[in-house]
Amino acid sequence: MSSLEQILMDARLSMSKASSLPELEQAKARFLGKNGIVTAQLKGLSLLDVEARKLAGAAVNRCKAEIELLVESAKERIAEADLQAKLAEESIDVTLPGRNPGMGSLHPVSLALERIEKLFASVGFSVADGPEIETDENNFAMLNMPVDHPARSMQDTFYLKGTSNVLRTHTSPVQIRYMQEHSKKCGPPYRIICPGRVYRCDHDATHSPMFHQIEGLWVDTGISLADLKATLTQLFRMFFERESINIRFRPSYFPFVEPGVEVDMEWESKGGKVKWLEIGGAGVVHPQVLRNGGVDPERYSGFAFGMGLDRLAMLKYGVNDLRLFFENDMRFLRQFT
Ligand code: DAH
Repeated sequence: MSSLEQILMDARLSMSKASSLPELEQAKARFLGKNGIVTAQLKGLSLLDVEARKLAGAAVNRCKAEIELLVESAKERIAEADLQAKLAEESIDVTLPGRNPGMGSLHPVSLALERIEKLFASVGFSVADGPEIETDENNFAMLNMPVDHPARSMQDTFYLKGTSNVLRTHTSPVQIRYMQEHSKKCGPPYRIICPGRVYRCDHDATHSPMFHQIEGLWVDTGISLADLKATLTQLFRMFFERESINIRFRPSYFPFVEPGVEVDMEWESKGGKVKWLEIGGAGVVHPQVLRNGGVDPERYSGFAFGMGLDRLAMLKYGVNDLRLFFENDMRFLRQFT
């Protein structure tokens, strides 16, 4: 076997053994580098006479070209292997079950809301929605609180700088939005609840700057305060699963209802003590508010109420600090799975 053949065999073996690019570079240098085996062969040519040099030179160059091809194909092989290794390492088996960080669960406020929505749906109410950034007009003026009305200061409003918008302070503006939209199409009866976030500049154990309300509105012919009382009593009894619950109305003032009432619920605490708890405001929709909603107050009447949803969830699930609802501490939330 000529020495060139020997070199080629050696090169094939080296190239096939190289398993990384640095290893390949080393192997390549051993043959083709400045002090490489093939380079030495080329240098040795000068010792030969012209004829012999021609022949030997061609043979050495063929050998060199062959080795260069070997290097190229080894490079491809290594790149492909690297890619496969990377893919294998990073592959995700989407069919595997998740690592179990504990099942997710609904937030207690969502649980309470779901329950209330179901109860109202069962007597024909639908759920209406409105934006949390509300116009001053819908949040106040359309609800009988024009710009200079003192009742505006009953709510600590977040005003949005440079606009006539506010963060809605209650869900009552959804009444206006809903009536205006539907009075164009069909008119009453309207039977809706509107749950959602509301905002007030207030923060302590029983107040959060963001909290949840649930608004209700029923407009039809001949609706009165008695319908309101029956509806709310039934709701509370079913929501809390306590047949003994009663409610009472105390006269109160809200510009968008006449008469307006504060709603109290009879509540028996764990020790068996019965107290009256304030749950929300309500009343018979003011004729001007009906008019603002495109409804004829000569023909229709209605009741409306607004309740704190968080408060109901606290009572339902025995939570004593409102702030727990908004801290998102997993130890708290996991108790509701
Ligand atoms: N919007 C009132 C509040 O946030 C609550 C309220 C009172 C809503 C009377 C009503 C109502 O619909 O009729 O303080």
